[in-house]
Amino acid sequence: MSKLIFERSVKNRRGITLPEFDCPEVILDHEYARSSSPRLAQVAEVDVVRHYMELSRYAFGVDNGFYPLGSCTMKYNPKLNETTAALEGFNSIHPTQDPSTVKGAMSLLSNLSTSLCEITGMDGFTLQPSAGAHGEFTGLLLIHAYHSDRKDLKRTKVIVPDSAHGTNPASANMAGYTIINVPSNELGGVDVEALKGVLSDEVAALMLTNPNTLGLFDPNIEEIAALVHKAGGLLYYDGANLNAIMGEVRPGDMGFDVVHLNLHKTFSTPHGGGGPGSGPVGVKKHLMPYLPKGTIIDEHFVENEKTIGRVRSYYGNFLVNVRAYTYILSLGSNGLKEASEMAVLNANYMMSQLKEAFTVAYPGPCMHEFVLSLQDLKDKTGISAKDICKGLLDYKVHPPTMYFPLIVHEALMIEPTETESKETMDEFIKILLELKDKAYSDPDYLKNAPYTTPIKRVDDVLAARHPILKAEM
Ligand SMILES: Cc1ncc(COP(=O)(O)O)c(C=O)c1O
Repeated sequence: MSKLIFERSVKNRRGITLPEFDCPEVILDHEYARSSSPRLAQVAEVDVVRHYMELSRYAFGVDNGFYPLGSCTMKYNPKLNETTAALEGFNSIHPTQDPSTVKGAMSLLSNLSTSLCEITGMDGFTLQPSAGAHGEFTGLLLIHAYHSDRKDLKRTKVIVPDSAHGTNPASANMAGYTIINVPSNELGGVDVEALKGVLSDEVAALMLTNPNTLGLFDPNIEEIAALVHKAGGLLYYDGANLNAIMGEVRPGDMGFDVVHLNLHKTFSTPHGGGGPGSGPVGVKKHLMPYLPKGTIIDEHFVENEKTIGRVRSYYGNFLVNVRAYTYILSLGSNGLKEASEMAVLNANYMMSQLKEAFTVAYPGPCMHEFVLSLQDLKDKTGISAKDICKGLLDYKVHPPTMYFPLIVHEALMIEPTETESKETMDEFIKILLELKDKAYSDPDYLKNAPYTTPIKRVDDVLAARHPILKAEM
């Protein structure tokens, strides 16, 4: 592991020479002046450059390797998006500027909202939320405002399938709802009979991801939507998996009332490491009166009396939205459709190549991702999904999502995305098959992998219970 920048520090070594002081000296009042010098590393420019270059090589991103992280859509981020986000007219403006001086930015936000409405079949979008989970929370506040406005105050429950992403029940809980879990059926979709059993006039909404986190499109979606609506509830669409269906089907047409999208997934803006993201929320007409304050529709701010208020400062992560709009315009409607088709084709190709060697959790055609269960391998060799993932690191491949969804034992959730070539996928398939052989021939080797990364196998229980988050100085 590289040294900390402070460990490279040598007293009085300098990386810069400040120019001569050319303005009157001002002595700060005692209360504003610090009592000791700041603790800064004292290093030369070359030390700083080498330090950060070294750290950057430790980081793994979609720009330096295959990243099949299921449910996260780590697609390649075209560099054209960066060019537009770097345009001075976009990156040198300030959110408190008079709107009349930033008409271009306003119209971009408005056009992006219109495009998202068209793609999802919704009537209005707010671009404020900064992430998928933030979008979920916003959507649930909108649902709450809708029921409250109708004095339908008994609705205190939200139904969430057992295959849902953990943020769904967490967001519903944060919004004050009690969660009802509904099981999946043997095909991986919502168990409709079980759903009927939990629907009542106390249900505010059903949250659903379609295709779900097993990579399966629920064929009963229209029936599910009709049942929830009949019971007076609303349908919330977790759009994190929109990459599978863009240009093919629309949540709005499936019957959903609210949808959030992850622009940092489907619309190719960078993510990982915590942001910045963008989780816009789209709604049907009956929910538009509650949209957050500061939402822009038709180049005008929505200032509705019934608004749920602001969910974020200003207008959302503006430059993320610029990147997403660039992606939409550069691909066009046919291109977006083709991206989804390629994402689905790639996932099905990989699944078909791996299905003999591993157990596919829910066999049959998948959408943009699929889930393997390595339980059988573990039973026979003692090698777990985690050991296989650690082994992948030595091949410079980012592991797939592990142990999710929770309903599949020893799960590996693989999402190749549309941007990967057949050669890259074949290489990954070959590596997985090699690792499987290794599990039988030399399990101890895999139990101690990885061998080539800056940090080797960590004790993850210890790391979770007693994380060391800062260096002792
Ligand atoms: C299905 C699903 N829903 C919601 C989220 C939450 O999105 P975010 O990480 O942007 O908060 C994710 C993220 O991985 C997801 O996969």
